[in-house]
Amino acid sequence: MITWWRRAGVRVRSTVAATTLLAVLVVAGALAGLVLLREALISVDEQTGEVQARLVRLSVTDRALAGDPAERLLTAVGADVERGSHIQVLTGQDEVVAASAGLQGVPALTGLRPQVAGLEHEVVDLPALGREGPWVVTVLGGALDDRRFWVVVAESTEDADRVLSRAVLLLAIGTPVLLAAIAVATWTFVGRSLRPVEAIRSTVQGITSRGLDGRVPVPPGSDEVSRLAVTMNEMLARLELAQRSQRRFVADASHELRSPVATLRAAAEVWGREGSVDARFTELVGSESGRLEALVADLLLLARADEGRVAGVSSEVDLDEVVEVEVARLRTVASGLDVRARTVPVRVAGDGAALARVVRNLTDNAVRYAGSVVELELAEVEGSAVLTVADDGPGIPAADRERVLERFVRLDSSRQRGSGGTGLGLAIVAEVVAAHGGTVRVGERRGGGASVRVRLPVQPPSAASR
Ligand SMILES: Nc1ncnc2c1ncn2[C@@H]1O[C@H](COP(=O)(O)OP(=O)(O)OP(=O)(O)O)[C@@H](O)[C@H]1O
Ligand SMILES: [Mg+2]
Repeated sequence: MITWWRRAGVRVRSTVAATTLLAVLVVAGALAGLVLLREALISVDEQTGEVQARLVRLSVTDRALAGDPAERLLTAVGADVERGSHIQVLTGQDEVVAASAGLQGVPALTGLRPQVAGLEHEVVDLPALGREGPWVVTVLGGALDDRRFWVVVAESTEDADRVLSRAVLLLAIGTPVLLAAIAVATWTFVGRSLRPVEAIRSTVQGITSRGLDGRVPVPPGSDEVSRLAVTMNEMLARLELAQRSQRRFVADASHELRSPVATLRAAAEVWGREGSVDARFTELVGSESGRLEALVADLLLLARADEGRVAGVSSEVDLDEVVEVEVARLRTVASGLDVRARTVPVRVAGDGAALARVVRNLTDNAVRYAGSVVELELAEVEGSAVLTVADDGPGIPAADRERVLERFVRLDSSRQRGSGGTGLGLAIVAEVVAAHGGTVRVGERRGGGASVRVRLPVQPPSAASR
């Protein structure tokens, strides 16, 4: 229940909360209102009864001045009974001396016997009167000479009940309508207030996946949401600045590192030829500066990729030619390996040098880890150029297949082999391929070993050279 509530979202929660609160208030208010209304209606019945009773008592005294009281009572009661009120005139405890038409033969309706001129009311069920539900009974005390008598008036609550049930009906119809209106209003209002928040969220999502140069929309006004948007934009600006200077730093640093490394290597070579330094020293400087140069070049390429400048030049590249050149090189360099190649002519749009780098990085790995076989396959599948480079080496464990595409990731086994890689090869492959709109998938070669598959969109025919 609680997790549902948390997951339901602000809009649902606000609507449910507002509607529930209002429902409680409305129901409580309606109940209180109905109780008050019923009391008011009963008091109307009591007043009607009182007026009736006083009229009867008046006529009894008046007419009794000239005649037999019992007879006068009867006349009086008979004459004044209207609108369904039931009237009895009692003397003593249970002596009914007169009664209205519907009450012939009915014993005293109540036990109340107030003082002379006293008035009492009660609400009771009177099955003898042939109607379900309560009656309002009013008793008025009177005296004629020395004789005490009481006028009893029973007013039906039928009218009151009818008014009450109509009120209940109105509430029963009105309350759900009111609640529905409040729910719709809350839903709409909260939704409208949250719309800018959703716009900010989706923009931020887009910004972080594309680069930090975008900004979120700032809604008009200066409420919480627009302040959030402004703060978010300030943060994005700072992040972008930091990211840009970091990338610039890496690019500048790798650029600046290139010439001292080249100088070092050249100097070692010259001094080696002159015989002024040890040959082993020349060899060491030569090989290490070679590695340094490769590393610096990789860093520079990745820095360019981060700035979105990796596939800067876009030309038509015959991928099959790139692969053939690489295969020819492999066959001379890796003479102990069985290099198998299968290609079809495929042309893609992109940066030829960068794509050659992709093929080179993949074959470097394959040659390094292969047992005896390296396979290259280039095919065209559903509008994509699919290049697969595989070897029969130890393969890459399934758990690491995503990870090896990250920068500086080398698996432990390769470190033990002292292979000397820096862990940037596949990261460069991933960057270059992504910049060309393609994908890289590291997998398993059938029959054992690693297999890396690169998919690149084939140049659309309209843009091809025709
Ligand atoms: N064909 C393969 N067979 C087995 N493991 C591989 C293969 N290719 C890559 N790997 C693993 O993935 C890791 C990352 O490869 P990546 O090419 O990115 O870096 P590297 O080859 O170590 O260094 P670099 O290519 O920068 O010289 C390697 O260190 C190795 O552990
Ligand atoms: Mg490599």
